[in-house]
Amino acid sequence: MCDDELIPPQADMTEREWLRAGSEATAGGPSMRTTGRVPQWVNRRTLLGGAMAGAALTVLPSPAQSRASAAPRLGGPGAFPFPEHPNGKGEFAVLVTGDAGTGDEAQYAVAAAARDLCRTEGIGLAVGLGDNIYENGPESDDDSEFQDKFEKPNSGIDVPWLMVLGNHDCSGLIPGSGGDPSRGDREVAYAATSRRWYMPSRYYSVPLPAADPLVEFFAIDTIPWSSYVAQLDPHYRWDGPYMREQRSWLDGALRASRARWKVVIGHHPYLNNGKHGSAGSYDGFEIGNYTSGVHLKDMYENVVCGRADLILSGHDHTLQILEPTARTGGTRQVVCGASAKTEDGTAHFGHPAAWQNFSDHGFMVLKVSGARLTIDAYTVDVATRKATLAHRTRQTRPVAAPAGAHA
Ligand SMILES: [Fe+2]
Repeated sequence: MCDDELIPPQADMTEREWLRAGSEATAGGPSMRTTGRVPQWVNRRTLLGGAMAGAALTVLPSPAQSRASAAPRLGGPGAFPFPEHPNGKGEFAVLVTGDAGTGDEAQYAVAAAARDLCRTEGIGLAVGLGDNIYENGPESDDDSEFQDKFEKPNSGIDVPWLMVLGNHDCSGLIPGSGGDPSRGDREVAYAATSRRWYMPSRYYSVPLPAADPLVEFFAIDTIPWSSYVAQLDPHYRWDGPYMREQRSWLDGALRASRARWKVVIGHHPYLNNGKHGSAGSYDGFEIGNYTSGVHLKDMYENVVCGRADLILSGHDHTLQILEPTARTGGTRQVVCGASAKTEDGTAHFGHPAAWQNFSDHGFMVLKVSGARLTIDAYTVDVATRKATLAHRTRQTRPVAAPAGAHA
């Protein structure tokens, strides 16, 4: 199943309305006005998988786990430690991946290419930008998919992985819908048993080094602000307590941060030249509270822009290093979602870009020192499992360095 087909006929449908629209169109019966793209792919197998996720829709999911404290803490037994010092080059080097959890050869090839770089680049941390477990997210806290789609491919990349939730990780009845956010709690629970997977709560921050941070990562849950379907559980509605608390937490955490550099990591991008488009008009929808991502756009513009140096996102299976602009308040949007899947080779929008690629697999490496942020973009040849440095962007001036921070 491809995300190309994961477009609802209308904005903010419930999953049951979407499924009904699809079956009516398939049967030739009376149908709702549609975009012409109905979920023909919702066959028995995917529905069975999705139905297990969707079972939670019949009862209210348990409340979301609370956010973590700011200080990094260990995950499972023997968890790989966070770097306390820069590497031999005087930098904190971070592997950035996204939309990786297919378990297919391309995921293994990209991971193998990245693994080769870990030693030479002194990588001490990694990021997974969501859609960690395709297609439906995990079925349990210890689903074997955690092994097949994360631990095995990333074996040897022995660092903490900052993980965020994607729409596929929170599938409801329809794989990828984002219709059951409570499913994401399984990925939080899994962190307690993994050496790599770091997700102490559904949103959290990690300062590096912890005692006197040079850079701080703010991991957010974008799903209930940009799911393909309407949220039914009041807890997860766009204006419900969970999203209000997250927004308030992020606002306070960015304000309180003493780090010179601030990096927000979340699955859905603010700006995007790929086919899904930007927050507020995702997939061509400009009405409603969910499918368009209008409330995520509002959050990015009022909480993040002008305060964070970078927004790292996935969702689009492309590699994009966009330029900071007046619109973004100097914040740079980066899309890195090509670690297992690729797109159609086409730029669909024209946001200024330092570099972008819509056809290759790849990953990025973020290097942080007091003097600069460096983003290296790598494309990967799946057949040879080799990475090629395709582009390097540097920036030397923080968007908003706090007084007394690292210089
Ligand atoms: Fe996604």
